[in-house]
Amino acid sequence: MANQQRPTHLHHPTPPRPRLGSCLTSWSKRDWTIVAAAVAVIILTLAHTSRYSSSLNNKSSTSNPSLSSHPDFVPFTPLANAHQKFAFCLDGSVPGYHLQKGFGSGSQNWLLHIEGGGWCNTIASCLSRKRTVLGSSKYMDSQVQFSGILSHDPLQNPDFFNWNKVKIRYCDGASFAGHPESEFKNGTELFFRGQLILDALMDQLLSVGLFDARQALLTGCSAGGLATLIHCDYFHEVLPKDANVKCLADAGFFLNEKDIAGKQTIENFYHDVVHLQGIAKSLNKDCLSRMEPHKCFFPEEFIKNIKTPLFLVHPAYDFWQIRNILIPDESDPQQSWLRCKLNIFKCNPSQLEVLQGFRNSLLNRLSEFQQNKEGGMFINSCYVHCQTWMAETWHSPSSPRINNKTIAETVGDWYFNRKTAKEIDCPFPCNPTCYNMDFLRGL
Ligand SMILES: *[C@@H]1O[C@H](CO)[C@@H](O)[C@H](O)[C@H]1NC(C)=O
Ligand SMILES: *[C@@H]1O[C@H](CO)[C@@H](O)[C@H](O)[C@H]1NC(C)=O
Repeated sequence: MANQQRPTHLHHPTPPRPRLGSCLTSWSKRDWTIVAAAVAVIILTLAHTSRYSSSLNNKSSTSNPSLSSHPDFVPFTPLANAHQKFAFCLDGSVPGYHLQKGFGSGSQNWLLHIEGGGWCNTIASCLSRKRTVLGSSKYMDSQVQFSGILSHDPLQNPDFFNWNKVKIRYCDGASFAGHPESEFKNGTELFFRGQLILDALMDQLLSVGLFDARQALLTGCSAGGLATLIHCDYFHEVLPKDANVKCLADAGFFLNEKDIAGKQTIENFYHDVVHLQGIAKSLNKDCLSRMEPHKCFFPEEFIKNIKTPLFLVHPAYDFWQIRNILIPDESDPQQSWLRCKLNIFKCNPSQLEVLQGFRNSLLNRLSEFQQNKEGGMFINSCYVHCQTWMAETWHSPSSPRINNKTIAETVGDWYFNRKTAKEIDCPFPCNPTCYNMDFLRGL
């Protein structure tokens, strides 16, 4: 069922775990129960609020007679060249994607969206991941629902609805940047083929029409947003020279920030991911000449090296980053942050001050990018994570706005050079249009 896709995106099932040797786990069982309950409620809410958009207008259905009665559901396509290109998921299964053909004026335009889902940083966490949908295509649904930036409905997706749209499934655990040289030489327990998956995928898409692209946009959320940033210039290079190519990272700007206990939780975690999967080979060369490889996994260190026009959709209070980078459970043994992390409205004034500091760090590290003439941004003050793939946050009557513009409208203004598109929201709780995650609901 397509609905089962939603929690995978909303809540990365594999948040950073502590390094090997630690006896703590990042998310307690109780925490997981809470998340599971909250997800159930959210899905019900979304199912309800989505109805307005499922009353498809006639225009899109009649202009594309090839769409079936369930045009939102798009089948999985395994990579036909996987064996030839040595491109495999963590468990050795064949990776793949979902493709909805473009139509009308969009038939030569392509939007690729890279799925998110955290990373694995140890042999143990990669071994458990390979038994999930994030490490093996064996567990992937045969079809998924396309919504938000992937929707074919012009009401939901005004600028990209008729483009060729591809959802790229994530099953390598390292933002499509792993290399086989790092696999164990003594067996094939785990495949680190992220970069090879991306190469094979681009090859296949080029052969089914991408070679003819006039306009293209590489997007992705969370670990897929980070993949978008890492591979943005590569994407540009493999496309036709005269194509208009841009990149949009959603919630992919992971900050290298110490946690509230002063520990380098995320830096240590990224260090392990980068070394385990041999990621350095995929990272920006200029950055690598300046600092250690794992630091070049942080967008703040290489964003200035990205030559392709770039847009950042990012919440200033990214709940994934707050729960896993700023206030990991191990750094809050008294659980004094528990309610605040479940619902931002439950934070006390001193906790809010810490969150404002996190927002300030984000804005500081984006100050140079803000001057980038070809760049765009939508930094809203919401407690949320990915915002492009759901109609409710991407473009709807009730979706988050800055200066009365939705994310979809702002991204469209940037992509088509209609007007400058650099929106930074005032600090929480100033924006009443926010879609804030509430993990307390339904308890
Ligand atoms: C295979 O390699 C891994 C990693 O180097 C090591 O931990 C493991 O013990 C080895 N297994 C065998 C059977 O040699
Ligand atoms: C905001 O935009 C909507 C259309 O998207 C418009 O109807 C409304 O009047 C605008 N509100 C303001 C305050 O400009």
